[in-house]
Amino acid sequence: MKKINLPKHSKLLSNEFVFGVATSSFQIEGAANEREPSIWDTFCAQPGRIKDGSNGLIACEHVKRWREDVDLIASLGVDAYRFSIAWGRVINANGSINSAGLGFYVNLVNTLATLGIASHVTLYHWDLPQYLEDQGGWVNRETAYKFAEYAEVVVKALGDKVASYATLNEPFCSAYLSYEAGIHAPGKRSRKQGRQAAHNLLLAHGLALPILRKHAPKAEHGIVLNFSPCFPASESAADQRAAAMAHAYHNLWYLQPLLAGTYPELPVPLADDEWPIIDDGDMAIISQPIDFLGVNYYTRTVFRDKNGWFSDVPPSEPPLTTMGWEIYPQGLTEVLTQLKAAMGNLPPIYITENGAAFPDEVIDNQVHDAARIDYYNGHLLAVHNCLEQGIEIKGYFAWSLLDNFEWAEGYTQRFGIVHVNFDNQQRILKDSARALRQFWHARKLNIEAAEV
Ligand code: NOJ
Repeated sequence: MKKINLPKHSKLLSNEFVFGVATSSFQIEGAANEREPSIWDTFCAQPGRIKDGSNGLIACEHVKRWREDVDLIASLGVDAYRFSIAWGRVINANGSINSAGLGFYVNLVNTLATLGIASHVTLYHWDLPQYLEDQGGWVNRETAYKFAEYAEVVVKALGDKVASYATLNEPFCSAYLSYEAGIHAPGKRSRKQGRQAAHNLLLAHGLALPILRKHAPKAEHGIVLNFSPCFPASESAADQRAAAMAHAYHNLWYLQPLLAGTYPELPVPLADDEWPIIDDGDMAIISQPIDFLGVNYYTRTVFRDKNGWFSDVPPSEPPLTTMGWEIYPQGLTEVLTQLKAAMGNLPPIYITENGAAFPDEVIDNQVHDAARIDYYNGHLLAVHNCLEQGIEIKGYFAWSLLDNFEWAEGYTQRFGIVHVNFDNQQRILKDSARALRQFWHARKLNIEAAEV
């Protein structure tokens, strides 16, 4: 079996660096009848939306098997676990609190604490309650205020027991993929709606932030964004403009309002009626200081001009993951360096997600996923290089603990370091989990030895 290897004196091996594994509520929980339906339940029920026609009704049965899963996490030797809370498991359609649902997360956090594992909570990982979508979802400004109310309920229950609160996970997906490109729930296709959803999501983040700080003053508060460096398909001026446009539209559109209180200038301007409605004071609410920036990184993207706009060019050269994504670890260092230069500085960073889907095979109860170990090695080295270059990264979370429901791809993509048999819910540690476990345990022993 391959190993996880890092330069001997890497800062990633130090006591301060946080290593963890990550999941999200809709992708693993199941127990759908114990919560309100979300936009993903509705979307999954629409024919043709999900590649394998599947849904999240059962997923990894994590609500039922959470204790076993927590033991699994503890056995890996991680410092932290990142998971999300399902809004509709906490707040009912009539506005009342689902105390059993909230209690599930309280138990989870308490149990993790007894095992010495820090909880990194994400409040919104795409599973908007359908009752809010019925009122316009993220296109309706009211949803941002509802989010702040929901955040208050959660933070009052969990307080400082949680190490970090991220308001949103990848608002790019909840806005662009969901209301503009139509490939994620609720499947809308409108540029105007996509831009408005993005603004209302960022507003939701800003409205929740002071509430989170008030009730969890010792926790860190931030947001999780996804970044992909954007490359032009050719040297042509049109393709270069397309790549610059994609960078502004996909990367800076979310980061710049948070850090500078402005939306980026676009190389291809939006029509006046495509701009979101921005109320006075919104940008100040959005740009309050954050304690950390969560970064999800998977791949780079190549763009070409398409009728004066931009369009991505799917990679064809191996090595690719089964998502069809290029394996390009140095893109993490490149994009963070680029963003740091553009913004002047960046808040302290957690790599909140990084990982890959491969065609795993179970042979004699084992999964020899050498390619995933290579992927982790390449990307951990990229994190190491970022640190060497003065980009402050405080932690790294592998995506994902378990094979799970991969959104529009259903169960066709396996991102887990732990294999899940969806017929009987059996979990098997893949070689990647074994290699990471070995690495994490050895790291702990070294730290303990150094402390003696
Ligand atoms: C980012 C998302 O946050 C997560 O839910 C998803 O499974 C991974 N990317 C892989 O696509």
